[in-house]
Amino acid sequence: MTAAVAVPRSSPTQAVILVGGEGTRLRPITSRVPKPVAPVVERPFVSYILDNLARHGVSRAVFSTGFLAEAIEAEIGDGSRFGLEVAYAVEDEPLGTAGAIANCESKLRAGNFFVFNGDVLSDVDLSALAALHVAKGGMGTIFLTPVEDPRRYGLVELDDEGRVSSFLEKPSDHEGTALINAGVYVLEPEVLEMVPRGKLFSIERGVFPRLAQAGSLYGYVDHGYWRDIGTPDSYLQAHFDILESTVYTAVAEEMGSQYLYVDETAQVDPGARVVPPCYIGARVRIAAGARVGPLAVLGAGVVVGEGATVLETVAQAGVVIGAHAQVEGSVLVRDASVGAGTQLVGAVLGEGVSVGAGNRLAGGICVYPGTSLPDNSIQFYEQLRGREGP
Ligand code: GDD
Ligand code: MG
Repeated sequence: MTAAVAVPRSSPTQAVILVGGEGTRLRPITSRVPKPVAPVVERPFVSYILDNLARHGVSRAVFSTGFLAEAIEAEIGDGSRFGLEVAYAVEDEPLGTAGAIANCESKLRAGNFFVFNGDVLSDVDLSALAALHVAKGGMGTIFLTPVEDPRRYGLVELDDEGRVSSFLEKPSDHEGTALINAGVYVLEPEVLEMVPRGKLFSIERGVFPRLAQAGSLYGYVDHGYWRDIGTPDSYLQAHFDILESTVYTAVAEEMGSQYLYVDETAQVDPGARVVPPCYIGARVRIAAGARVGPLAVLGAGVVVGEGATVLETVAQAGVVIGAHAQVEGSVLVRDASVGAGTQLVGAVLGEGVSVGAGNRLAGGICVYPGTSLPDNSIQFYEQLRGREGP
């Protein structure tokens, strides 16, 4: 590592966003779309990260892509839609989190930068994180959040001065609430000198523990909203949090104090009920006697048939829900369809999946793209979240 920088540090105005992972645990939601741009309330997921960056004066983001890189680029483009400049560093093969950051080096300006895991939803105060980084003067400062079970995360211990005393990725045997790496941090460019080029290298295993040992890594503890959207359940919950403004987003601004957005091109029959919080996208049609919400997101062109019920559910663009169907706690990916009278409780239907009439699917069942279930073919009951079974 080189000697301390001569000029006083300032807050970062650029960011690296790590989006090269496969997101396998989020299938079938991510069977046909990369996780970072999976729609969340009709916007690509990473746009929430970009919004937060722009709010805190960051003007440039470099996406570190690999898996399905073109699909991410096609969605995000040059970033102008999101108020900052976006560049891309594409890997031929996965380099690991540290390798992926180092691969962005030529696309970064001089100076320090934020790094984001591309699957984190948070309204963390980036200016406060950056201010602490500048004040402490370490090589890196990590945003830390408490979780009840840290075993899926990077477990972090701090000393009395806010210095990271240990960093342990995916500890096998820790019990109880602890601080973890929330997947957002500030790094000085000198850190890249610790990363061997052209081979798989993890920042969590290869860099953070060494920086901690050298006393040059700090933690910024924030008890505000934080969630990673790694599973269908947390994907669904992220929607609820956005609808309820538990996390501050641009969507909350659009919805206002009524917690309701109904696009002006949507057609809601006067005999239908829409119960907030709810987001009803463009050209949605809701028939008489239907009840939508609370906690429903209907993407562009969704059709809800007569007498159907849709609550605590995300139906992406093009989904069709038949008459008297009951859909609850479910995710319906683009163009999926549900036949008349079918009940879905806690189901995930992949893109274009068609479930015929008179079926009952429940209990976290995931149906992958390419599947068509005939009418009256599956009857699955399960007591879910305390609801009564049949
Ligand atoms: N470009 C690139 N190349 N990106 C990668 C690679 C790679 O080889 N490997 C992972 N990523 C990206 C993923 O797309 C994701 O956005 C981010 O890096 C983190 O990888 P995950 O696979 O999601 O890791 P994790 O969730 O198990 O653990 C990480 O996040 C936790 C917080 O959610 C770690 O950073 C933990 O320490 C942390 O607590
Ligand atoms: Mg993750």
